[in-house]
Parts: sequence; structure tokens; C-alpha cells
Amino acid sequence: MKADIVDVLIVGAGAAGMMCAIEAGRRGRSVRVLDHARAPGEKIRISGGGRCNFTNLGTGPGNFLGENPRFATSALKRFTQHDFIKRVDRAGIAWHEKTLGQLFCDDSAKQIIRMLTDDMREAGARLSLGVAVERIARDGDGFEAVLSDGSTVKAGSLVLATGGKSIPKMGATGWAYDTARGFGLRVTETRPALVPLTFETGVLERLKPLAGVSVEAVVSHGKTRFAEGLLFTHRGLSGPSVLQISSYWREGEAISVAMAPGLDVFARLKTMKAENGRQAAHTALGQIVPKRLAELLVEQEGGVGNLADLSDKALRRLDAAVNGWSVKPVGSEGYRTAEVTLGGVATDQLDQQTLAAKSMPGLYVIGEAVDVTGWLGGYNFQWAWSSGWAAGQVC
Ligand code: FDA
Repeated sequence: MKADIVDVLIVGAGAAGMMCAIEAGRRGRSVRVLDHARAPGEKIRISGGGRCNFTNLGTGPGNFLGENPRFATSALKRFTQHDFIKRVDRAGIAWHEKTLGQLFCDDSAKQIIRMLTDDMREAGARLSLGVAVERIARDGDGFEAVLSDGSTVKAGSLVLATGGKSIPKMGATGWAYDTARGFGLRVTETRPALVPLTFETGVLERLKPLAGVSVEAVVSHGKTRFAEGLLFTHRGLSGPSVLQISSYWREGEAISVAMAPGLDVFARLKTMKAENGRQAAHTALGQIVPKRLAELLVEQEGGVGNLADLSDKALRRLDAAVNGWSVKPVGSEGYRTAEVTLGGVATDQLDQQTLAAKSMPGLYVIGEAVDVTGWLGGYNFQWAWSSGWAAGQVC
């Protein structure tokens, strides 16, 4: 069989790969995009509860983690959240800001996929689904790939856009990391991030009655803190604030939780005691935090009884239980439920303007495969758009 010869071979038809294909195709490059999945952009489809939190109005380098968080600056500046919003508007996709600058489609995430596949088609990029790369090697100044259907592709540029390892059930693989390593690039340690945290059996047993309870909380790890929702689960903790902190937390470390942030719980309870001391302690605390949580905290702190029965010391213990809870998770739910992978192809191996490998002309790494990990809230897609766009200008 004759080899398919293209200018650019992009492996991975996710957010970054499709954006890169559009840009390269618009420059007149012949582009082929491969994906082993049956449909492109599967993570876009399921993201944001089916509405895709496609960017964040406040995106900046401060919202990213990695060995060099400033690495993302160049691509993020060259193709900004506002540039992506313009495309969404042009495609007639209605959107809204949910909270904290997070933009979602009014209707469906599928609209974003359709916009990208339409643009790819218009730009002349070819999409091949249900095919994987069996082997890939340097071939002169370019690359030669042998595909799972037995065919061969020769390309001047190769773009690794297969994302990270999260949600293997959806086809996520470590292919980009392995391939980058094979070409001599350094890859940093990878771990699940934006992921629920789990507790050991003893703590779980104690907190069992709270499964399903949610509160607005401030969750901290060292100097990093996030003020968002927290959810007690059957395995431990979830909710946006916990997912955010999971990217910073490491095994053996504690996180701190304030479940009535900004409120002086001691002073409030003391006032309530003065006003109506015959009120049950859990009823009073239930006006500050959800009822089930109040009941458990009061029982745990031995404050059973009326407010009038509680000393200042007991009220302070309740205050600490609400706003100074320090807990050591044992682990996380892992790649099975993680939204992203922390770590990836080391940023010192890549040019920050173009995402080109410094040591191998023609090789590019974009999107989640790079050691650039965003917070929860649309930042990861913005990185995928920006890095895909940047590589697409030159590959
Ligand atoms: P992406 O994972 O999108 O694409 C990689 C592509 O490569 C896939 O199509 C895959 O099938 C393909 N592939 C993998 N291995 C391959 C192989 N060996 N051969 C061929 N093809 C291969 N972010 C955000 O900003 N807002 C949000 O609302 C959400 N929501 C969200 C929900 C859930 C449940 C998850 C799991 C993740 C999110 N994210 C998110 C994160 C976001 O989805 C993610 O950061 C981007 O999709 C990354 O884009 P990439 O293009 O780099 O990879």
C-alpha cells in the first residue's frame, strides 16, 4: 500500500488536536488527524455536565500548575479566552457565565464539537476515526507512522495531542507521554488531578451519615485556598473546592476545611446562647451549617444538650470543628474519575511560543499532554485551544 503523505499528522482529535488542525489547514497545510475513538472530542461532549465549560473569562498563567507555570503565558496571550468566545459567537452558540468567570453553552457541548469539526472540514483537514498508531519513527526530516489498519502515513510535522490519562474508560492513554519519551523528551511525573479525595475506613465510618451533604467551604493546603462547594461522599470529599485542592495535595498531607468561612462561629453561638439558651446545640448549629452536619459535629464534640449547658470551651470546640477542620485524605479516586492529569511533557523541552520540541524539529506537543494543568473552571479547555492554536501557526 502506498503511504499517505501529509504535511502535518495530528494524533488525537480532542480539543487541542482539532484546534491545531483548523489553524494548520487554514495556512494551506495538508493535515490528517487520527483518533482511536469512534467520535472526535469525546471529553468535550461530557464536559461541564454536557454543557462544556469551554473557557474562563479570567484565564491567566496564575490559574495553571506545572514545573514552570509561566510557560503557558505566551500561548494564552496569543490566543485568548476572548478569541475563543469570538469563534463561539460567530458559530451562533449561545452561552452564559455560570459563576467565577466560567462560560458554558446554554444548550449542548455538542455545539462546540460541531463548530470544530465544521471548521476542520472547511480548512481541508482530514479526520480518521477508529485508528491508532501502531509504530512511529523519525523518517529523514519528518516522521513515518504505521497505523492499526496497516497503512502508513509520512508527515513533515507530528503533533502529539492525545491528552492525559484521566478516564481510561473513554479511551484516555499515556500515548503522548510514551511517544515523547521515545523521541528523547523528558516527561514529568504524572498523577490524577481535579479528583475527589478519599478517607481511611475509620474516618469514613464516622462521616458516613454525611454522604450527600454539601456546604460552601474554604478548603486550603498550605497557602493555596479555594472558596467553592464541598460535598461529602461515600468515599471521602468531592465538590469544586476539593477537586481544586487535589491538584496541590500529596499523600501524607492534611487539608484544612472551613465550613462556615468568614463567620465567627463561637461569637454567633454565644449570642444565640444569650438569646435562647434552651435551644438544643445541634439546632443552633444547624442555622450555621446543614442540619446533618450540625448533628454530627455536636455529637462528636460532646456538646449534646442545650446551648445553656455548653461552656465557652465547648462552644470554641464547635467553632474549631466547623472552621478549623484538618483532615488527612489517604488517597484520591484516581484516573477513573480525575478530570485531568497533572504533569506531562516537561515544558523545558518545548518552545513556549510554538509548542515545538526543542530537540527534534517537526515534533509538537499540545493540550493536556504538556505539563500545564489548569484549575477547574474552563482553564483546561482554554489551554487546549491556545496551545493548539499556537502550534497550528507553524507546524
Ligand atoms: P483530549 O483528552 O480532549 O483529547 C485527546 C484525544 O486523543 C481523544 O479524542 C482520545 O480519544 C485520543 N487518544 C488518546 N489516546 C490515543 C491513542 N493512543 N491513539 C489515538 N488517539 C488517542 N476542562 C474544562 O476546561 N472545562 C470543563 O468543563 C471540563 N470538564 C471535564 C469533564 C470531565 C469528565 C473530564 C474528564 C475532563 C474535563 N475537562 C474540562 C478537562 C478537559 O476535558 C481536558 O483538559 C481537555 O479535553 C484536554 O484536551 P486535549 O485535546 O489535550 O485532550
